Amino acid sequence: MEYRYDFLVIGGGIAGLSFALKVASKGKVAILTKTSLEEANTFYAQGGVATVMLQSDNFEKHIQDTLIAGDFLCNREAVEKVVREAPAQIKELIQWGVDFDKDDSGHFDLHREGGHSEFRILHHKDSTGSEIQESLVNRVLQNPNIDIFNDHFAIDLITQHHLGQIVTRHTPNIACYGVYVLDHNTRRIDTFLAKITLVATGGIGNVYQTTTNPAIATGDGIAMVHRARGVISDMEFVQFHPTALYHPGERPSFLITEAMRGYGALLRTTDGKEFMHKYDIRGELAPRDIVARAIDNEMKNRGDDFVYLDVTHKDAEETKQHFPMIYQKCMSLGINITRDMIPVTPAAHYLCGGIQVDLNAHTSINRLYAVGECSRTGLHGANRLASNSLIEAVVFADAAAKDAIQRISQLSFVEVPEWDDAGTSLPEEMVLITQSIKEVQQIMTTYVGIVRSNLRLQRAMSRLEILYRETESLFDRSVVSKEICELRNIISVGYLIIKQAMQRKESIGLHYTIDYPEPCEKH
Ligand code: FAD
Ligand code: SIN
Repeated sequence: MEYRYDFLVIGGGIAGLSFALKVASKGKVAILTKTSLEEANTFYAQGGVATVMLQSDNFEKHIQDTLIAGDFLCNREAVEKVVREAPAQIKELIQWGVDFDKDDSGHFDLHREGGHSEFRILHHKDSTGSEIQESLVNRVLQNPNIDIFNDHFAIDLITQHHLGQIVTRHTPNIACYGVYVLDHNTRRIDTFLAKITLVATGGIGNVYQTTTNPAIATGDGIAMVHRARGVISDMEFVQFHPTALYHPGERPSFLITEAMRGYGALLRTTDGKEFMHKYDIRGELAPRDIVARAIDNEMKNRGDDFVYLDVTHKDAEETKQHFPMIYQKCMSLGINITRDMIPVTPAAHYLCGGIQVDLNAHTSINRLYAVGECSRTGLHGANRLASNSLIEAVVFADAAAKDAIQRISQLSFVEVPEWDDAGTSLPEEMVLITQSIKEVQQIMTTYVGIVRSNLRLQRAMSRLEILYRETESLFDRSVVSKEICELRNIISVGYLIIKQAMQRKESIGLHYTIDYPEPCEKH
């Protein structure tokens, strides 16, 4: 089956939905999601959205906080863009129905998180993400120009390669004409042709054993762009959130928001001792890379599986009011956070790198944009400042929409062949795939986690190469399934993380290696 759309959006989180709403008056839009509109990293966001609001705050302070957290590896233009354009984008989110909490006097109730010098986090209780996702989904569902295709898994971008041309990383003017998509219900592979395609496929958390990300986060967009010979960068900067709830076996790991440390929660080792002051004068409010490494170090030194986050000294009613979702979740496990300390451990949370884009969110491939967590805009540098992700997605969705609207009248559909499944037979035993997924996750967690070394990276690479060869051979013989595509994608993402980590011969931001413990002098 073939579909034709002016704008094809792969992903239904904040990035894809806000882009779709902005271009829908200029053409027909299709949104693809892998499962449903609820299953997206966006839905899980807790802390909130960073923007300058208070009189005491200003753009320069937010810019500086972002640059400091990113260890000055950020693209200053991207930082300026996001910080300065944030207030207008927040207004639009509110017009679309997003309800940010206000205090008794009607002013926005602002939180503070690690690395922020001011209170500037707009939030909806401790469930900001679901509030945003539900508001955007409502708007999208009312728009007659937008069609939603749930359970539609994008497999590969269609480029000149599918027209029989040889495409290498040096081929000029690679262009994207649409996407081959597996319809989960019919098991058919459909062709979606588009004048403009947007990749908004979110994060990569499931490349690791423990993650705060839902199951959809397997880096599909990044792997697709890599296979299409697009530019991917900064993959070594994987952010581990310091405080995921320690609850072995639960996937995804439940997040204990950083806003709780902003509220005054303290980190303690299992014998009750505070430790953050040994690592940074900002204590619990140091940027995430520092807090996660400190926790990792304390756990390794003591042989513990977790540390505690302690909020028992705060007013119980206030705690329940600020963090109702966390209170309820912990209560369901027998932890009363107003009286008991919360066991926490770091978990893979966010990818700072990804598909390289310019300030219009355009990738290195013509007719192809990337927005949201799958993209690398340069905002985050070596480490993302808390609550800078949702705002980056809406600012860059706006830029992509404006650029795409300008270009679309000059573009037309390109005829392409149907998906070629010659030589494939029945699916192999599922255990071959599920076991390989576990192996990738174990390799990445053991050797490419918070602390790295040359030896660990080399070992990870050689183990991954074996899995790569096995999986490509399996893929060539098998009828395409979501599972085998995801396995291929996490292998590609793992490979890119390891390769780019090997190239960075220094420790900076989220990339820490014992072989080069200092940053390069040129920074
Ligand atoms: P997502 O919201 O993840 O959406 C991805 C979409 O792509 C999904 O619809 C999925 O179905 C689709 N998709 C993926 N692959 C395919 C495929 N092959 N085919 C078809 N569709 C596909 N950031 C903040 O700024 N503030 C916070 O407070 C905050 N809290 C967070 C808390 C948690 C627990 C997590 C996990 C993240 C948090 N983040 C936060 C980060 C932020 O939520 C994400 O970076 C952001 O929501 C990503 O949005 P997105 O639109 O890029 O991707
Ligand atoms: C959190 O609430 O701690 C997550 C915020 C973020 O990832 O930006």
